[in-house]
Amino acid sequence: MDNFEFFNPVKVIFGKDQLSKLPSHIPAKSKVLMIYGGGSIFKNGVYTQLKENLKNYHIVEFGGVEPNPRYETAMKAVAVIKAQKIDFLLAVGGGSVIDATKFIAAAALFEEGDPWDILSKQSPVKSALPLGVLLTLPATGSEMNTNSVMTREETHEKLAFASTKVFPQFSFLLPDAAGSLPQRQAANGVVDAFIHVIEQYLTYPVNAPLQDRFAESILQTLVEEGPKVYANPADYEAMSNIMWSATMALNGLISCGVPGDWSVHSIGHELTALHEIDHARTLAIVLPGLWTVLKNEKKEKLLQYGQRVWNVTEGTDDERITKTINQTESFFNSLGLKTKLSDYGVGVETIDKIVDRFEKRGWKAIGDRQLITPTVIRAVLMHQLK
Ligand code: NZQ
Ligand code: ZN
Repeated sequence: MDNFEFFNPVKVIFGKDQLSKLPSHIPAKSKVLMIYGGGSIFKNGVYTQLKENLKNYHIVEFGGVEPNPRYETAMKAVAVIKAQKIDFLLAVGGGSVIDATKFIAAAALFEEGDPWDILSKQSPVKSALPLGVLLTLPATGSEMNTNSVMTREETHEKLAFASTKVFPQFSFLLPDAAGSLPQRQAANGVVDAFIHVIEQYLTYPVNAPLQDRFAESILQTLVEEGPKVYANPADYEAMSNIMWSATMALNGLISCGVPGDWSVHSIGHELTALHEIDHARTLAIVLPGLWTVLKNEKKEKLLQYGQRVWNVTEGTDDERITKTINQTESFFNSLGLKTKLSDYGVGVETIDKIVDRFEKRGWKAIGDRQLITPTVIRAVLMHQLK
Protein backbone atom coordinates (compact mmCIF):
# COMPACT_ATOMS: atom_id res chain seq x y z
CA MET A 1 0.00 0.00 0.00
CA ASP A 2 1.18 3.55 -0.72
CA ASN A 3 1.49 6.26 1.95
CA PHE A 4 -1.60 8.33 2.55
CA GLU A 5 -3.29 10.97 4.69
CA PHE A 6 -7.01 10.79 5.31
CA PHE A 7 -9.08 13.69 6.61
CA ASN A 8 -12.79 14.20 6.24
CA PRO A 9 -14.59 16.56 8.60
CA VAL A 10 -18.05 16.51 6.93
CA LYS A 11 -20.89 15.71 9.29
CA VAL A 12 -23.40 13.47 7.52
CA ILE A 13 -27.04 13.42 8.58
CA PHE A 14 -28.78 10.68 6.64
CA GLY A 15 -32.41 9.78 6.11
CA LYS A 16 -36.02 10.87 6.59
CA ASP A 17 -37.45 13.63 8.77
CA GLN A 18 -34.07 15.02 9.69
CA LEU A 19 -34.41 18.63 8.62
CA SER A 20 -35.60 19.80 12.04
CA LYS A 21 -31.92 19.41 13.00
CA LEU A 22 -30.88 22.03 10.45
CA PRO A 23 -30.89 25.06 12.81
CA SER A 24 -28.46 23.39 15.16
CA HIS A 25 -25.91 23.30 12.34
CA ILE A 26 -26.12 26.89 11.11
CA PRO A 27 -24.89 29.60 13.48
CA ALA A 28 -27.78 31.73 14.80
CA LYS A 29 -27.94 35.20 13.21
CA SER A 30 -26.27 33.94 10.04
CA LYS A 31 -27.31 35.60 6.82
CA VAL A 32 -27.80 32.56 4.62
CA LEU A 33 -27.64 32.37 0.82
CA MET A 34 -29.73 29.38 -0.22
CA ILE A 35 -28.42 28.19 -3.58
CA TYR A 36 -30.49 25.91 -5.79
CA GLY A 37 -30.97 24.81 -9.39
CA GLY A 38 -33.81 24.91 -11.87
CA GLY A 39 -36.65 24.35 -9.42
CA SER A 40 -36.80 20.63 -8.54
CA ILE A 41 -36.71 21.63 -4.84
CA PHE A 42 -40.13 23.21 -5.19
CA LYS A 43 -41.61 19.90 -6.38
CA ASN A 44 -40.11 17.45 -3.92
CA GLY A 45 -41.06 19.21 -0.70
CA VAL A 46 -37.52 20.19 0.29
CA TYR A 47 -38.07 23.93 -0.15
CA THR A 48 -41.14 23.96 2.08
CA GLN A 49 -39.44 21.92 4.81
CA LEU A 50 -36.37 24.09 4.65
CA LYS A 51 -38.28 27.36 4.95
CA GLU A 52 -40.27 25.93 7.83
CA ASN A 53 -37.17 24.84 9.73
CA LEU A 54 -35.17 28.00 9.04
CA LYS A 55 -37.91 30.52 9.70
CA ASN A 56 -35.78 32.33 12.28
CA TYR A 57 -32.97 32.96 9.81
CA HIS A 58 -32.45 35.71 7.32
CA ILE A 59 -32.43 33.78 4.03
CA VAL A 60 -31.62 35.16 0.60
CA GLU A 61 -32.48 32.83 -2.30
CA PHE A 62 -30.33 32.29 -5.36
CA GLY A 63 -31.80 29.90 -7.94
CA GLY A 64 -30.95 29.01 -11.50
CA VAL A 65 -27.71 27.07 -11.11
CA GLU A 66 -27.49 24.96 -14.26
CA PRO A 67 -26.62 21.27 -14.57
CA ASN A 68 -22.87 21.52 -15.39
CA PRO A 69 -22.84 24.78 -13.43
CA ARG A 70 -21.65 27.92 -15.10
CA TYR A 71 -18.90 30.19 -13.84
CA GLU A 72 -20.88 33.15 -15.14
CA THR A 73 -23.90 32.27 -12.95
CA ALA A 74 -21.69 31.61 -9.93
CA MET A 75 -20.17 35.08 -10.26
CA LYS A 76 -23.69 36.57 -10.05
CA ALA A 77 -24.08 34.80 -6.70
CA VAL A 78 -20.74 36.26 -5.58
CA ALA A 79 -22.11 39.73 -6.35
CA VAL A 80 -25.21 39.02 -4.21
CA ILE A 81 -22.98 37.83 -1.35
CA LYS A 82 -20.93 41.01 -1.43
CA ALA A 83 -23.97 43.28 -1.73
CA GLN A 84 -25.96 41.56 1.02
CA LYS A 85 -23.12 40.61 3.38
CA ILE A 86 -23.96 36.90 3.32
CA ASP A 87 -21.98 34.76 5.75
CA PHE A 88 -23.27 31.19 5.23
CA LEU A 89 -24.07 29.24 2.05
CA LEU A 90 -26.62 26.45 1.83
CA ALA A 91 -26.56 24.26 -1.30
CA VAL A 92 -29.85 22.49 -2.01
CA GLY A 93 -29.85 20.00 -4.89
CA GLY A 94 -27.46 17.73 -6.77
CA GLY A 95 -23.77 17.83 -7.61
CA SER A 96 -24.06 20.89 -9.83
CA VAL A 97 -25.56 23.04 -7.10
CA ILE A 98 -23.02 21.78 -4.55
CA ASP A 99 -20.06 22.33 -6.89
CA ALA A 100 -21.26 25.83 -7.75
CA THR A 101 -21.69 26.61 -4.04
CA LYS A 102 -18.11 25.47 -3.34
CA PHE A 103 -16.78 27.69 -6.10
CA ILE A 104 -18.93 30.62 -4.93
CA ALA A 105 -17.66 30.11 -1.35
CA ALA A 106 -14.07 30.35 -2.57
CA ALA A 107 -14.60 33.10 -5.16
CA ALA A 108 -16.38 35.38 -2.66
CA LEU A 109 -13.19 35.63 -0.58
CA PHE A 110 -10.63 35.37 -3.39
CA GLU A 111 -8.47 38.48 -3.46
CA GLU A 112 -5.56 37.35 -5.58
CA GLY A 113 -7.08 38.28 -8.94
CA ASP A 114 -9.72 36.78 -11.22
CA PRO A 115 -11.55 33.88 -9.48
CA TRP A 116 -11.41 31.94 -12.78
CA ASP A 117 -7.73 31.41 -11.89
CA ILE A 118 -8.88 29.00 -9.15
CA LEU A 119 -9.94 26.69 -12.00
CA SER A 120 -7.65 27.60 -14.87
CA LYS A 121 -4.40 28.14 -12.95
CA GLN A 122 -5.23 26.09 -9.87
CA SER A 123 -4.59 29.20 -7.76
CA PRO A 124 -4.67 28.13 -4.11
CA VAL A 125 -7.87 28.80 -2.17
CA LYS A 126 -6.76 30.50 1.05
CA SER A 127 -10.22 30.94 2.55
CA ALA A 128 -13.87 30.30 1.77
CA LEU A 129 -17.28 31.04 3.25
CA PRO A 130 -18.74 28.19 5.31
CA LEU A 131 -21.24 25.99 3.51
CA GLY A 132 -23.77 23.25 4.19
CA VAL A 133 -25.57 20.84 1.86
CA LEU A 134 -29.01 19.31 1.39
CA LEU A 135 -28.47 16.53 -1.13
CA THR A 136 -31.36 15.50 -3.40
CA LEU A 137 -29.50 13.47 -6.04
CA PRO A 138 -27.02 10.67 -5.33
CA ALA A 139 -24.16 10.74 -7.84
CA THR A 140 -21.11 12.90 -7.44
CA GLY A 141 -20.04 12.54 -3.80
CA SER A 142 -19.61 16.34 -3.77
CA GLU A 143 -21.57 16.39 -0.50
CA MET A 144 -18.59 14.85 1.30
CA ASN A 145 -15.52 15.90 -0.68
CA THR A 146 -13.39 18.89 -1.62
CA ASN A 147 -14.02 18.91 -5.38
CA SER A 148 -15.90 21.25 -7.67
CA VAL A 149 -16.24 21.20 -11.46
CA MET A 150 -17.28 24.39 -13.24
CA THR A 151 -17.99 25.27 -16.85
CA ARG A 152 -17.20 28.57 -18.56
CA GLU A 153 -19.98 29.23 -21.03
CA GLU A 154 -17.90 31.69 -23.04
CA THR A 155 -15.13 29.22 -23.88
CA HIS A 156 -16.84 25.82 -23.42
CA GLU A 157 -14.21 24.84 -20.86
CA LYS A 158 -15.04 22.47 -18.01
CA LEU A 159 -12.41 22.57 -15.25
CA ALA A 160 -12.09 21.33 -11.68
CA PHE A 161 -10.51 22.48 -8.45
CA ALA A 162 -10.20 20.94 -5.02
CA SER A 163 -9.59 22.54 -1.64
CA THR A 164 -10.15 21.46 1.95
CA LYS A 165 -11.49 25.00 2.52
CA VAL A 166 -14.68 24.03 0.64
CA PHE A 167 -15.48 20.86 2.56
CA PRO A 168 -19.16 21.22 3.51
CA GLN A 169 -19.61 21.66 7.27
CA PHE A 170 -22.55 19.26 7.12
CA SER A 171 -24.51 17.33 4.55
CA PHE A 172 -28.08 16.15 4.91
CA LEU A 173 -28.53 13.13 2.64
CA LEU A 174 -32.19 12.97 1.64
CA PRO A 175 -33.14 9.73 -0.14
CA ASP A 176 -36.84 10.63 0.08
CA ALA A 177 -36.24 13.89 -1.81
CA ALA A 178 -34.41 11.90 -4.49
CA GLY A 179 -37.66 9.96 -5.03
CA SER A 180 -38.77 12.70 -7.43
CA LEU A 181 -35.78 12.17 -9.75
CA PRO A 182 -36.55 11.36 -13.37
CA GLN A 183 -35.36 7.83 -14.27
CA ARG A 184 -32.61 9.31 -16.41
CA GLN A 185 -31.05 11.20 -13.50
CA ALA A 186 -31.38 8.23 -11.16
CA ALA A 187 -29.53 6.08 -13.71
CA ASN A 188 -26.89 8.78 -14.25
CA GLY A 189 -26.20 8.79 -10.51
CA VAL A 190 -25.67 5.03 -10.36
CA VAL A 191 -23.22 5.10 -13.28
CA ASP A 192 -21.32 8.17 -12.05
CA ALA A 193 -20.81 6.56 -8.63
CA PHE A 194 -19.82 3.27 -10.31
CA ILE A 195 -17.14 4.98 -12.38
CA HIS A 196 -15.86 6.97 -9.39
CA VAL A 197 -15.08 3.65 -7.76
CA ILE A 198 -13.53 2.33 -10.96
CA GLU A 199 -11.21 5.37 -11.28
CA GLN A 200 -9.75 4.58 -7.84
CA TYR A 201 -9.79 0.77 -8.06
CA LEU A 202 -9.17 -0.38 -11.59
CA THR A 203 -5.55 0.68 -11.88
CA TYR A 204 -2.77 -1.75 -10.93
CA PRO A 205 -2.26 -3.86 -7.80
CA VAL A 206 -0.41 -2.31 -4.84
CA ASN A 207 -1.32 -4.98 -2.30
CA ALA A 208 -4.21 -3.05 -0.74
CA PRO A 209 -6.79 -5.81 -0.20
CA LEU A 210 -8.99 -3.79 2.16
CA GLN A 211 -9.27 -0.91 -0.32
CA ASP A 212 -10.03 -3.39 -3.10
CA ARG A 213 -12.81 -4.97 -1.07
CA PHE A 214 -14.28 -1.58 -0.07
CA ALA A 215 -14.37 -0.73 -3.77
CA GLU A 216 -15.83 -4.08 -4.84
CA SER A 217 -18.54 -3.89 -2.16
CA ILE A 218 -19.65 -0.49 -3.46
CA LEU A 219 -19.65 -1.80 -7.05
CA GLN A 220 -21.69 -4.87 -6.05
CA THR A 221 -24.20 -2.71 -4.19
CA LEU A 222 -24.60 -0.43 -7.21
CA VAL A 223 -25.11 -3.47 -9.48
CA GLU A 224 -27.78 -4.88 -7.16
CA GLU A 225 -29.63 -1.70 -6.18
CA GLY A 226 -29.11 0.37 -9.34
CA PRO A 227 -31.78 -1.39 -11.42
CA LYS A 228 -34.27 -0.87 -8.55
CA VAL A 229 -33.88 2.91 -8.47
CA TYR A 230 -33.91 3.01 -12.26
CA ALA A 231 -37.24 1.14 -12.29
CA ASN A 232 -38.61 3.27 -9.45
CA PRO A 233 -36.69 6.26 -8.07
CA ALA A 234 -39.25 6.47 -5.24
CA ASP A 235 -38.12 3.08 -3.87
CA TYR A 236 -36.85 4.54 -0.59
CA GLU A 237 -34.85 1.52 0.54
CA ALA A 238 -33.02 1.15 -2.76
CA MET A 239 -32.45 4.91 -3.06
CA SER A 240 -30.99 4.96 0.46
CA ASN A 241 -28.48 2.29 -0.51
CA ILE A 242 -27.58 4.10 -3.72
CA MET A 243 -27.20 7.42 -1.94
CA TRP A 244 -24.84 6.07 0.69
CA SER A 245 -22.88 4.14 -1.97
CA ALA A 246 -22.45 7.29 -4.06
CA THR A 247 -21.21 9.25 -1.05
CA MET A 248 -18.77 6.51 -0.04
CA ALA A 249 -17.56 6.22 -3.63
CA LEU A 250 -15.93 9.65 -3.56
CA ASN A 251 -15.30 10.85 -0.01
CA GLY A 252 -11.62 9.97 0.04
CA LEU A 253 -11.86 6.65 1.86
CA ILE A 254 -11.40 4.18 -0.97
CA SER A 255 -8.54 6.16 -2.51
CA CYS A 256 -6.33 5.83 0.60
CA GLY A 257 -3.04 4.20 -0.26
CA VAL A 258 -3.92 3.28 -3.85
CA PRO A 259 -3.24 4.92 -7.24
CA GLY A 260 -6.00 6.84 -8.99
CA ASP A 261 -6.59 7.05 -12.72
CA TRP A 262 -9.28 9.69 -13.47
CA SER A 263 -8.66 9.63 -17.22
CA VAL A 264 -12.27 8.56 -17.94
CA HIS A 265 -13.38 11.76 -16.22
CA SER A 266 -10.80 13.96 -17.95
CA ILE A 267 -11.91 12.74 -21.38
CA GLY A 268 -15.60 12.74 -20.41
CA HIS A 269 -15.49 16.39 -19.29
CA GLU A 270 -14.51 17.36 -22.84
CA LEU A 271 -17.60 15.63 -24.26
CA THR A 272 -19.79 17.56 -21.83
CA ALA A 273 -17.99 20.83 -22.52
CA LEU A 274 -18.39 20.45 -26.29
CA HIS A 275 -21.78 18.70 -26.54
CA GLU A 276 -23.51 19.16 -23.17
CA ILE A 277 -23.85 15.36 -22.80
CA ASP A 278 -24.78 14.40 -19.20
CA HIS A 279 -21.65 13.78 -17.12
CA ALA A 280 -22.40 10.11 -16.35
CA ARG A 281 -23.21 9.39 -19.98
CA THR A 282 -19.84 10.67 -21.11
CA LEU A 283 -18.18 8.27 -18.67
CA ALA A 284 -20.26 5.33 -19.90
CA ILE A 285 -19.05 6.13 -23.43
CA VAL A 286 -15.36 6.46 -22.56
CA LEU A 287 -14.85 3.56 -20.12
CA PRO A 288 -15.42 0.55 -22.44
CA GLY A 289 -13.13 2.09 -25.07
CA LEU A 290 -10.43 2.85 -22.53
CA TRP A 291 -10.44 -0.67 -21.14
CA THR A 292 -10.35 -2.19 -24.60
CA VAL A 293 -7.36 -0.10 -25.63
CA LEU A 294 -5.53 -0.58 -22.30
CA LYS A 295 -6.52 -4.16 -21.57
CA ASN A 296 -2.94 -5.36 -21.24
CA GLU A 297 -1.88 -2.51 -18.97
CA LYS A 298 -4.93 -3.00 -16.72
CA LYS A 299 -5.01 -6.78 -17.04
CA GLU A 300 -4.56 -7.82 -13.41
CA LYS A 301 -7.25 -5.54 -12.03
CA LEU A 302 -9.63 -6.26 -14.93
CA LEU A 303 -9.40 -9.99 -14.18
CA GLN A 304 -9.94 -9.42 -10.45
CA TYR A 305 -12.89 -7.08 -11.07
CA GLY A 306 -14.45 -9.50 -13.57
CA GLN A 307 -14.21 -12.37 -11.14
CA ARG A 308 -15.33 -10.59 -7.97
CA VAL A 309 -18.04 -8.30 -9.35
CA TRP A 310 -19.39 -10.22 -12.37
CA ASN A 311 -18.33 -13.77 -11.52
CA VAL A 312 -16.38 -14.12 -14.77
CA THR A 313 -14.10 -17.08 -14.09
CA GLU A 314 -13.87 -19.13 -17.27
CA GLY A 315 -11.82 -18.86 -20.46
CA THR A 316 -8.44 -17.44 -21.31
CA ASP A 317 -7.41 -14.12 -19.76
CA ASP A 318 -8.28 -12.36 -22.99
CA GLU A 319 -11.73 -13.97 -23.17
CA ARG A 320 -12.43 -13.12 -19.53
CA ILE A 321 -11.43 -9.49 -20.03
CA THR A 322 -13.61 -9.16 -23.14
CA LYS A 323 -16.55 -10.69 -21.28
CA THR A 324 -15.98 -8.35 -18.31
CA ILE A 325 -15.92 -5.26 -20.54
CA ASN A 326 -19.10 -6.43 -22.29
CA GLN A 327 -20.88 -7.11 -18.97
CA THR A 328 -20.02 -3.60 -17.76
CA GLU A 329 -21.20 -1.97 -20.99
CA SER A 330 -24.44 -4.02 -20.87
CA PHE A 331 -24.99 -2.87 -17.29
CA PHE A 332 -24.82 0.77 -18.43
CA ASN A 333 -27.10 0.00 -21.39
CA SER A 334 -29.62 -1.73 -19.08
CA LEU A 335 -29.89 1.55 -17.15
CA GLY A 336 -30.66 3.39 -20.37
CA LEU A 337 -27.16 4.84 -20.90
CA LYS A 338 -25.99 4.48 -24.48
CA THR A 339 -22.27 3.98 -24.94
CA LYS A 340 -21.44 4.97 -28.53
CA LEU A 341 -20.61 8.48 -29.71
CA SER A 342 -22.95 8.03 -32.67
CA ASP A 343 -25.85 7.56 -30.19
CA TYR A 344 -25.31 11.22 -29.26
CA GLY A 345 -24.73 12.53 -32.78
CA VAL A 346 -21.00 12.99 -32.11
CA GLY A 347 -18.60 12.33 -34.96
CA VAL A 348 -14.92 12.15 -35.67
CA GLU A 349 -14.51 15.95 -35.82
CA THR A 350 -15.15 16.08 -32.06
CA ILE A 351 -12.43 13.49 -31.50
CA ASP A 352 -10.01 15.74 -33.42
CA LYS A 353 -11.05 18.70 -31.26
CA ILE A 354 -10.57 16.82 -27.99
CA VAL A 355 -7.14 15.51 -28.97
CA ASP A 356 -6.18 19.02 -30.03
CA ARG A 357 -7.34 20.45 -26.68
CA PHE A 358 -5.23 17.98 -24.71
CA GLU A 359 -2.20 18.77 -26.87
CA LYS A 360 -2.67 22.55 -26.57
CA ARG A 361 -2.98 22.30 -22.79
CA GLY A 362 0.38 20.55 -22.81
CA TRP A 363 -1.06 17.43 -21.11
CA LYS A 364 1.41 14.89 -22.48
CA ALA A 365 -0.23 11.91 -20.80
CA ILE A 366 -2.86 11.16 -18.14
CA GLY A 367 -3.97 8.12 -16.13
CA ASP A 368 -2.55 6.06 -13.29
CA ARG A 369 0.85 5.59 -14.96
CA GLN A 370 0.70 8.49 -17.42
CA LEU A 371 0.20 6.09 -20.30
CA ILE A 372 -2.77 7.85 -21.87
CA THR A 373 -1.33 10.19 -24.47
CA PRO A 374 -3.41 12.19 -26.96
CA THR A 375 -2.84 9.30 -29.41
CA VAL A 376 -4.32 6.83 -26.91
CA ILE A 377 -7.25 9.19 -26.30
CA ARG A 378 -7.93 9.19 -30.04
CA ALA A 379 -7.91 5.37 -30.12
CA VAL A 380 -10.26 5.18 -27.11
CA LEU A 381 -12.80 7.54 -28.67
CA MET A 382 -12.49 5.96 -32.13
CA HIS A 383 -13.36 2.62 -30.53
CA GLN A 384 -16.61 4.10 -29.22
CA LEU A 385 -17.50 5.95 -32.43
CA LYS A 386 -20.20 3.50 -33.66
O1 NZQ B 1 -31.63 22.02 -11.19
P1 NZQ B 1 -32.72 21.25 -10.54
O2 NZQ B 1 -34.06 21.80 -10.81
O3 NZQ B 1 -32.47 20.98 -9.09
O4 NZQ B 1 -32.78 19.82 -11.30
C1 NZQ B 1 -31.71 18.91 -11.29
C2 NZQ B 1 -30.96 18.86 -12.63
O5 NZQ B 1 -31.79 19.21 -13.70
C3 NZQ B 1 -32.29 17.54 -11.19
N1 NZQ B 1 -32.57 17.11 -9.82
C4 NZQ B 1 -31.74 17.12 -8.74
N2 NZQ B 1 -32.38 16.58 -7.68
C5 NZQ B 1 -33.64 16.26 -8.11
C6 NZQ B 1 -33.76 16.60 -9.47
N3 NZQ B 1 -34.90 16.41 -10.17
C7 NZQ B 1 -35.93 15.86 -9.52
N4 NZQ B 1 -35.87 15.47 -8.22
C8 NZQ B 1 -34.75 15.65 -7.49
N5 NZQ B 1 -34.69 15.22 -6.23
O6 NZQ B 1 -31.30 16.68 -11.76
C9 NZQ B 1 -30.63 17.39 -12.79
C10 NZQ B 1 -29.15 17.11 -12.74
O7 NZQ B 1 -28.60 17.65 -11.56
P2 NZQ B 1 -27.02 17.79 -11.38
O8 NZQ B 1 -26.79 18.40 -10.05
O9 NZQ B 1 -26.44 18.42 -12.58
O10 NZQ B 1 -26.56 16.25 -11.38
P3 NZQ B 1 -25.36 15.55 -10.70
O11 NZQ B 1 -25.56 15.41 -9.23
O12 NZQ B 1 -25.15 14.31 -11.48
O13 NZQ B 1 -24.13 16.55 -10.89
C11 NZQ B 1 -23.40 16.60 -12.08
C12 NZQ B 1 -22.27 17.63 -11.97
O14 NZQ B 1 -21.32 17.25 -10.97
C13 NZQ B 1 -20.01 17.20 -11.52
C14 NZQ B 1 -20.28 16.86 -12.96
O15 NZQ B 1 -19.18 17.13 -13.80
C15 NZQ B 1 -21.49 17.72 -13.28
O16 NZQ B 1 -21.10 19.04 -13.54
N6 NZQ B 1 -19.18 16.27 -10.77
C16 NZQ B 1 -18.76 16.65 -9.55
C17 NZQ B 1 -17.90 15.87 -8.79
C18 NZQ B 1 -17.45 16.28 -7.45
N7 NZQ B 1 -17.78 17.48 -7.02
O17 NZQ B 1 -16.76 15.53 -6.76
C19 NZQ B 1 -17.37 14.59 -9.28
C20 NZQ B 1 -18.10 14.08 -10.47
O18 NZQ B 1 -17.25 13.20 -11.17
C21 NZQ B 1 -18.61 15.11 -11.41
O19 NZQ B 1 -17.59 15.56 -12.29
ZN1 ZN C 1 -18.12 11.67 -12.02
